[in-house]
Order: sequence, then structure tokens, then C-alpha cells
Amino acid sequence: MASIYEQLFSVSGKTALVTGGAKGIGALISRTLVLAGCQVFITGRSQEAGEQLAGELARYGHCTFLRHDLSSEEEVRALAKELGSHITELHILVNNAGTFSAEPIGSISGQSWDSLMELNLRAPFLLTQALLSLLEAGASTDDPARIVNIGSIGGLMPQSNGAYAYGCSKAGIHQLTRMLASDLRSRNINVNAIAPGYFPSDMTAGFFAAVPDLKRSMLERIPARRFGSLEDIGGTVIFLSSRAGAYLTGGITALDGGLLGAP
Ligand SMILES: NC(=O)c1ccc[n+]([C@@H]2O[C@H](COP(=O)([O-])OP(=O)(O)OC[C@H]3O[C@@H](n4cnc5c(N)ncnc54)[C@H](OP(=O)(O)O)[C@@H]3O)[C@@H](O)[C@H]2O)c1
Repeated sequence: MASIYEQLFSVSGKTALVTGGAKGIGALISRTLVLAGCQVFITGRSQEAGEQLAGELARYGHCTFLRHDLSSEEEVRALAKELGSHITELHILVNNAGTFSAEPIGSISGQSWDSLMELNLRAPFLLTQALLSLLEAGASTDDPARIVNIGSIGGLMPQSNGAYAYGCSKAGIHQLTRMLASDLRSRNINVNAIAPGYFPSDMTAGFFAAVPDLKRSMLERIPARRFGSLEDIGGTVIFLSSRAGAYLTGGITALDGGLLGAP
């Protein structure tokens, strides 16, 4: 008989797509899901990074890189079509790919606003739309398909720090999560969001390189006194994707070591 841990948290045998799955937070999620026994597809623009991680993870399980630029609607649809040539059921979709920008209020252009929104907000919606039939094919009342959207505490806090488009895109992802959850639960698809605080990635390395002393002062502000790790994001995705999370939909989980609520 399976242990209580397996009954509650096993995702072995499930299929998963992780957008932006070769780098940063996406790579932590891909690695966790492969090690947990999922057949994982990862996507991104960089062939080199994608093939490198897929090659490494293939030693422990199943990982395939599909190269697509999700800022283009055609490419989103091409990804869904290519994925459909590999699998007939999709159990876990992680909408993780995203980009960050921050500029003084006076210098933000309409074009930079639009290009950020295309990737951070439009792509997760279009990809969900394009993958609905694969998700429904893998879903049942007892074991719904799971969509995990990666939001941000930047979409929950009032301060902009110049990241107007980014914060609005992430607040939009949180609201999209609630709306999709409301519409899709009766179709056996759960939709939840994780709103990370600070995790090591190219994105945060960019902040820390641009602002002297930011890393130290940020660590001082996080009540947990550390950045997020593979166990933190991977464990939350496993929870949301396993039997343990089957009754949870429409939730936005801040995964930030207490930063959002810090005085
Ligand atoms: N790190 C944090 O502390 C933090 C905090 C809050 C929220 N987040 C969110 O977490 C997610 C991952 O961020 P990260 O920190 O891991 O950033 P990252 O290291 O910059 O990774 C971004 C990922 O998205 C992919 N990507 C970027 N543009 C793309 C495009 N046009 N088409 C397809 N894929 C694209 C990248 O792959 P390619 O470059 O190969 O395309 C990469 O895999 C983002 O949604 C971000 O907003 C991160």
C-alpha cells in the first residue's frame, strides 16, 4: 500500500509543461517535477539553455525542450500544437515565463508597456486557451488538471518602485487566476497562482547588479532572512499539483518568507 506521503503528494506519471522552464524559478520547478516522476516539457527562447537543462534532467527522468517565443500569439499556438504531437493529456501547466522592467514614470513608453504585457499576461491566457482540450483530456473530478500561474508579490503590494507594467501584469495574472478558476472548476481544471518574493534567478541578479547594497538590505527586510529555494517553490507546485491540492482552486499564495507582511 502506498504511504500517506505518496497518496497525498505523488505526481508520478503526470505530464507537465513549464514555460520559461530552463532558467531561474522555472528551472527549479522543472527539476522538481522531473525528479518527482513527471514527464516534463519546458519552453523558452534560448535553445542552448533549454537543451542543456533538458539533457541534464533526462538523466533522472523525462524532460523535453520545445523552443518558442511566447510574446508572439502565433508562437503560443505553435507551442500548443507541438505539445499535442507529443502527448494526448496534459495534467500540469505552469505559466512561469515572464520579464521585468522598471523605469521612472516619465520615461515608460507604450511599446515597452505592451511588450511586457504580451509575455507576462497575454501569453498565459492564450496558452491556457490553446491547451484547454489537452488539459480536459487529462482531468477527472477526483484528479483535476492543474494550472499554476507564477504571479509576484509585485502584483500584491502598493509600491511601484517604477515597475508599473510589471506590477500590473502580475496583479492581472492574479485576477486571471481567479476568473479561470471560477470558469474552469466545473471542467475539472484547478487554477492557482504562486506570488513569489525573492528567488535567485537572472531577473533578481539583474536587480542586485543594478542597485548597490540591494541584496543585503533585501535580506534584512525578509523576516525569514533568506531568499526562496527549490524546496520552497518546488514543494508548493507539488502540493498544488498532487492529491493534496485537488480541492484548492482560485488561490493566490504569497511565497515570500513573510516579506509582504513585514513592518
Ligand atoms: N525571481 C524572483 O524573485 C521572482 C519574484 C517574483 C516573481 N517572479 C516571476 O517568476 C517567473 C520567472 O522569473 P525568474 O526570476 O526565474 O526570471 P528569469 O531568470 O529571467 O527567467 C525568465 C524565464 O522566462 C523565459 N522567457 C523570457 N522571455 C520569454 C519569451 N518571450 N518567450 C518564452 N520564454 C521567455 C526565459 O527563457 P529564455 O530567456 O530562454 O526565453 C526564462 O526561462 C516570472 O514570471 C517572474 O515574474 C520571479
